[in-house]
Amino acid sequence: MDREEKILILDFGSQYTQLIARRVREARVYCEIHPFNMKIQEIKAFGPKGIILSGSPWSVNNPEAPLIGKEVLELGVPILGICYGMQLIAHLLGGKVTAASNREYGRAQLEILEGEGIFQGLERVQTVWMSHGDRIERMPAGFQAIARSENSPIAAFRDREKRIYGVQFHPEVVHTKHGKAMLRNFALKVCKCKPRWTMRSFIENATVSLKDRIGPEKVICALSGGVDSSVTAALLWRAVGDKLHCIFVDNGLLREGEAKEVTQVFSRTFRANLHFVDAREVFLERLKGVVDPEAKRKVIGEEFIRIFEREARKLGEVKFLAQGTLYPDVIESVSFKGPSATIKSHHNVGGLPEAMDLELVEPLRELFKDEVRELGRELGLPPAIVERQPFPGPGLAIRIVGEVTRERLEILRKADSIVIEEVKRAGLYRKLWQSFAVYLPVRSVGVMGDERTYEEVIAVRAVTSEDGMTADWARLPDALLRRISNRIINEVAGINRVVYDISSKPPSTIEWE
Ligand code: XMP
Repeated sequence: MDREEKILILDFGSQYTQLIARRVREARVYCEIHPFNMKIQEIKAFGPKGIILSGSPWSVNNPEAPLIGKEVLELGVPILGICYGMQLIAHLLGGKVTAASNREYGRAQLEILEGEGIFQGLERVQTVWMSHGDRIERMPAGFQAIARSENSPIAAFRDREKRIYGVQFHPEVVHTKHGKAMLRNFALKVCKCKPRWTMRSFIENATVSLKDRIGPEKVICALSGGVDSSVTAALLWRAVGDKLHCIFVDNGLLREGEAKEVTQVFSRTFRANLHFVDAREVFLERLKGVVDPEAKRKVIGEEFIRIFEREARKLGEVKFLAQGTLYPDVIESVSFKGPSATIKSHHNVGGLPEAMDLELVEPLRELFKDEVRELGRELGLPPAIVERQPFPGPGLAIRIVGEVTRERLEILRKADSIVIEEVKRAGLYRKLWQSFAVYLPVRSVGVMGDERTYEEVIAVRAVTSEDGMTADWARLPDALLRRISNRIINEVAGINRVVYDISSKPPSTIEWE
């Protein structure tokens, strides 16, 4: 079984913890993130072949710093401490950690002194990413420095016998050139895990356990057209075939062509039971006069649940509800949640399971987004679905500032499809987290031919991001911006001005509402 070969990542609140997990999984080794205060019995029961201690915004010398008991380091499995994790090892085992006179932040040149273990097969000198205020002044007994940088004489250390490693830099971030190789070395060479975590093996296991759990019962799945619900449905279809009933509600707030694409895939490629509900008029009617962003979400969420319940009831007795929950939503990060998702209420099929007495099936809850995409490809979903950028549940409604009307939806859908088309043509679609158009009900003066115009504005938003929690505005090439602007103004009636959104998250959010 692939999950027996696993690594435990203890989270001390670093913003990079999820990246560590992703790098380990890229090495085809299963891993899970747990809060630093996981009990020793639970750790033993989990049975990892290695443990990684994450970074943290804290200093180990702060009396409130998150600590662990020494017994975690005495389990006899290899340990890798990253930044704070390394300082914690030093602190627990009798070394000395002090505030560095120079905070080291950004790129640094690392010189490897011992090219084995995590450094096996790597160049002697390479670029790494540092971000720390403390440094190791004295190593614990039995440890030896295995790398140094200009500002950190002990940039990495090791206790060979106990197989405990520490690195002062962050191997999980892309700026550390060979960081991925170091984490792979740790998982495969030091912990001796076998690289068995593949989406193929995931499908095999998931199919068996879903079949087992669902048995002869019915399971329903709300399809949204997005990657997560599509992959959930495709996986369930493979496992339980026509016991799966997909419900697709066209709320009229979808992107151009989306409804058609999804229904075609699920009715033709998979021949799944697909219940298509055209609710475009209902949603428009309910959204009349609604201007407040949260009120829009509420109306859309409630209406969706109402329709979904009605459809489900038509199916008679249903026991399960399938949902595309992903691993980042599941990880508890105790007291360290950043400026999290509570800023905007997120629409999902929330209240449904209790209201309808349904049991939840969440077959993707161990997976990261990129794994879900890989899984989707393995399951035979077309690239148009698998590679689609994330799209909010309330859809275009939260990309129209102010009231949602039929006319505005039409304008926005057209403008949005131009943005997507041009971004794809420039080869940037998959590099961007999201790229889309926003409709602003603001009129400005323009001149077209000899005529004065007085029309509304489209804002173009394109961001790069790892997970949507933070994001930077994308530096799109001039030529691309020019094409997008020209085409929108020429082709979309009612728009005479296009602006580009140059705000990052935080303090802005990705969506405008
Ligand atoms: P924000 O705008 O909060 O968005 O920076 C972060 C990510 O979440 C998506 N998003 C939503 N998804 N329901 C959803 O299912 C929502 O109400 C919602 N609001 C934002 C957004 O598209 C981005 O990827």
